[in-house]
Amino acid sequence: MDHFQYKNGALFAEDVALSEIAKEVGTPFYVYSQATLERHYEVFAEAVKDIDATICFAVKANSNIAVIKTLADLGAGADVVSVGELKRALKAGVPADRIVYSGVGKSRSELEFAVQTGIRQINVESEEELELLSEVAAAHDVRMPIVLRVNPDVDAKTHAKISTGKSDNKFGIDWTRAVEVYQRASNMAGVAPKGLACHIGSQLTDLEPFRAAFRRMKEMVGELRGLGLDVSRVDLGGGLGIPYDERETPLPIEYGKLVVEELGDLNVEFEFEPGRMIAGNAGLLVSEVIYVKKAPSKTFAIIDSAMNDLMRPSLYDAYHAIVPLVEAEHVDDMQSYDIVGPICETGDTFAKDRQLTRLESGDLIAFRTSGAYGATMSNTYNSRALIPEVMVKGDKFAVIRRRIEIEEQMDMESLPDWQS
Ligand code: LLP
Repeated sequence: MDHFQYKNGALFAEDVALSEIAKEVGTPFYVYSQATLERHYEVFAEAVKDIDATICFAVKANSNIAVIKTLADLGAGADVVSVGELKRALKAGVPADRIVYSGVGKSRSELEFAVQTGIRQINVESEEELELLSEVAAAHDVRMPIVLRVNPDVDAKTHAKISTGKSDNKFGIDWTRAVEVYQRASNMAGVAPKGLACHIGSQLTDLEPFRAAFRRMKEMVGELRGLGLDVSRVDLGGGLGIPYDERETPLPIEYGKLVVEELGDLNVEFEFEPGRMIAGNAGLLVSEVIYVKKAPSKTFAIIDSAMNDLMRPSLYDAYHAIVPLVEAEHVDDMQSYDIVGPICETGDTFAKDRQLTRLESGDLIAFRTSGAYGATMSNTYNSRALIPEVMVKGDKFAVIRRRIEIEEQMDMESLPDWQS
């Protein structure tokens, strides 16, 4: 459930008409509903309430400080994958001891920063990283809590570009080597192995791959304990899919039940790293139609946002529902449109042959389910502005990232001295 509803024919975020925000902020912009973010967090927390769980919001899904703070205020931790994300989480008030740090390519300076910050744990993804981390931590007189991220070789049955748990994906330590590596780690000066982690992919719409991965995790925990090694934490990653269209996706409560069913008797602290499930349906991207252009075989609605603002359709062929800001009076007046942006690439297409109520230049539309992996993946291709993000709470709204115009971007560049 989200808090984007029509009231008297106008689309609202909570108690604010989106057209009001458009008037003040200009289009395109991202808008988030604080009540929806809070609700999604609470739903997830409720789903795992019967186990000892730390919920670490995957900051990559939406790294705006106001979004992270909304969740931190409810007790969320953070899953970060760079020092940049770590700094954001800290700035938003996430306590260091609720931050886990994942990622295949943490650099020496990133590890140094994490070790000195005293975060909850580093999720180690390779033997080389393990060695470097141990060296870096020991040099700072720290025994860094770690978990080994294991690659369980499970097919997540999601889009290939966001599958992470097959043995030919770059993530984690191959599960067949994990026990040996854990044993080695337990003898290293700079690390304190606490347990295992896995994350098999994103936008999973079936619980069975989770079940397969959980079973493998359980097997490994048993093996480690059989060798007399301590295992007190299991990080189950993120990945729970959300509905982008009418198809149903597993509910958080069902996911929680599965965890209890498969791993409930493991006697460990669990960590979860949900991203999309918390932020996805809490955000919209609002755009204006610039032109409607008829071609021999179709009609294009050319809008003012483009693939640089929301990459998901061009990168993953992702579907986002598109809705008008003014509810159509004549729903029988449906037409087929290709919704495209101004960027000079054919891939700059949000939707093909989409049935929408008649569009005209100046109409405002919104892409639903854009709160996760929307703004965080945006860029300035074609020298476009980085678009604003707005947060709504009740009848109030605030710009939480202003538009970053081309002038400001050009100010970051300089000519070599031989050109000036
Ligand atoms: N933990 C780890 C280690 C991850 O790599 C990810 C996502 C998550 C947690 C959060 O997963 P979630 O709960 O959001 O599914 N840009 C793509 C999604 C990339 C996901 C990357 N990793 C998209 O727009 O679909």
